[in-house]
Amino acid sequence: MRILALDVGQQRIGTAIGDTRGGIATPGDALLRVSRAKDVQAILELVRREGAEQIVVGVPYLADRSVGVRGRAVLAFVEALRSGSALPVELWDERFSTVQAEAGLRAAGRQPSRDRARLDSASAAVVLQGYLDAHRTTPSRSGVQQVRLGIIGYPLRHTLSPVFQQAALEACGIEGRYEAWETPPQHLAQQVRELAEAGVLGFNVTVPHKEAVGALLDELTGRARELGAVNTVVNRGGRLVGDNTDGEGFLRALKDDGGFEVKGAPVLVLGAGGAARAVVYSLAKEGAAFIVVANRTVGRAEALVAGLKGHVARTEAAPLTETALRRAFRAEPPLLIVNCTPMGMAYGPAPDQSPLSAGLIPRGALVYDLVYRPAETRLLREARRAGARTLGGLPMLIYQGAAAFRIWTGREPPVAVMLAAARQALAMEG
Ligand SMILES: NC(=O)c1ccc[n+]([C@@H]2O[C@H](COP(=O)([O-])OP(=O)(O)OC[C@H]3O[C@@H](n4cnc5c(N)ncnc54)[C@H](OP(=O)(O)O)[C@@H]3O)[C@@H](O)[C@H]2O)c1
Repeated sequence: MRILALDVGQQRIGTAIGDTRGGIATPGDALLRVSRAKDVQAILELVRREGAEQIVVGVPYLADRSVGVRGRAVLAFVEALRSGSALPVELWDERFSTVQAEAGLRAAGRQPSRDRARLDSASAAVVLQGYLDAHRTTPSRSGVQQVRLGIIGYPLRHTLSPVFQQAALEACGIEGRYEAWETPPQHLAQQVRELAEAGVLGFNVTVPHKEAVGALLDELTGRARELGAVNTVVNRGGRLVGDNTDGEGFLRALKDDGGFEVKGAPVLVLGAGGAARAVVYSLAKEGAAFIVVANRTVGRAEALVAGLKGHVARTEAAPLTETALRRAFRAEPPLLIVNCTPMGMAYGPAPDQSPLSAGLIPRGALVYDLVYRPAETRLLREARRAGARTLGGLPMLIYQGAAAFRIWTGREPPVAVMLAAARQALAMEG
């Protein structure tokens, strides 16, 4: 397939395929690419001369939904292309995650360019073709309305949710799409409004919108209200209901995959953000005897602990330092340590770093890292060497997603399929 890819105003397509050759027409074996060309007649001439079979236009954020002056200008440009050419014209927005692009490349036996080095034009064409295959609007085979689901967050480049939620839809024979809708904070309210108007069945919410989105919804479940955070939204007859499945996912993994009994246990939680909040409230409900919340910003840990008074026998807030943690656990060591910071996370703020010094990990404890990329973080590696048991964040990710799937569809989520799809995507990343 010979594809003409156009970047209008922004380097969306170029960025996604790791191609930094801006501004030049680059005829290749399988791909033609023109950056920033807006002269419709010149483009149509190029299409004819080079025998392109498909046009893909990279559009700025939300342009396909007619938002803003720039969006309308792009749409007018696309309309002119459509009326001037018989070729299919597809819009490329931000729905195609890097994970999907890289998985497509590896499946085709090609190396993704993680460092944004140049891809050869044939590899870029593989990515574009993958995008088209995933997003071409096909009429429903059965005539049944296709469901639309997705995730909002910013950035969303590395989200795995589209991979395993799409696999779940397909395994259940549900016709529909799960998309990644990258949403900068300033567009959150507008995005939520548009998703409601578009009649989507629901969506997941991730960093940094979990707290802010609540005020934009019609209703919150008890657990979303308690946590002050939403990770799942379901559209019930036009009313958007916010829920939170993080705690459920955390506990299921702890019990099923970690084989851990919380009741009566002393626990150390590292971090005091949104995930830590869901973790700490779940541990309190399950009857943990003593919870220490250690955080870089100790004031945040104190605020989290203050809300727990009366739910847990003993709580303590601490700075994330070795001295403070030794003091907190001088009487008895923690049986469970949960990392709720992004330390150690690939692509995160502190890759291959651990939030805890290795000397503080007791032999025989369970060390549970919410980070799932890489599968074995530095914390888990050091825990294993210290004789502790370990649990990574992937099961929790799948279980919180499975709980969301159940809320949206009312169907039992195919957890094994979801886990396998996520594992495969991660394995392809290398
Ligand atoms: N497996 C899953 O299903 C799952 C679900 C949810 C979250 N997670 C993971 O959990 C982690 C936290 O997510 P979140 O939603 O709670 O994020 P968040 O609300 O932004 O909180 C981040 C926490 O990490 C701390 N932190 C950030 N960078 C740090 C650094 N360089 N050194 C020390 N502490 C640092 C922050 O400390 P300060 O307060 O000092 O800023 C805060 O306590 C992320 O890695 C996320 O991917 C996994």
